[in-house]
Amino acid sequence: MPYKLLFVCLGNICRSPSAENIMNHLIAQANLSESILCDSAGTSSYHIGSPPDRRMSAAATTKLGIQLRGRARQFQKSDFQEFDVILAMDQENYENILSLDRSQQFDHKVHLMCDFCSRYTLKEVPDPYYGGSEGFHEVIDLLVDACEGLLEYITSQKTRT
Ligand code: 4NP
Repeated sequence: MPYKLLFVCLGNICRSPSAENIMNHLIAQANLSESILCDSAGTSSYHIGSPPDRRMSAAATTKLGIQLRGRARQFQKSDFQEFDVILAMDQENYENILSLDRSQQFDHKVHLMCDFCSRYTLKEVPDPYYGGSEGFHEVIDLLVDACEGLLEYITSQKTRT
């Protein structure tokens, strides 16, 4: 059974699709595409069906040479069962996700993305939507750091079980 990761932000057009695509890039480089699957979602319904934000895609292409794939969807309760680990981009996303799990039985699956950073000390992935291009570039750098830490965490966990 593949291990399944879900990245969650507010709109699912900037931060979480970047995290999903960066993680897929690292997973492919590590030859683990068969065993780790990624998806992303937004806590809001604002952009359902939209492709990733152009400014975010431009930053991903400039910094990493990758294309951002996917269409926005909203986080749903069934995701708690579907995924092994759920990564929230900021504190508000984290709380909104947990508020959908009244029974608290899936609490242990939900983490803050920045908890996996090793170089950055930021606690949240800043929302770049209303800012300039610098913010989008920073999101990419921060997510590379977090995704590297996350991949290390998952692979070390899998070899222990
Ligand atoms: P994301 O960015 O949560 O990283 O996808 C945002 C996208 C849209 C909005 C806010 C943040 N919005 O308010 O429409």
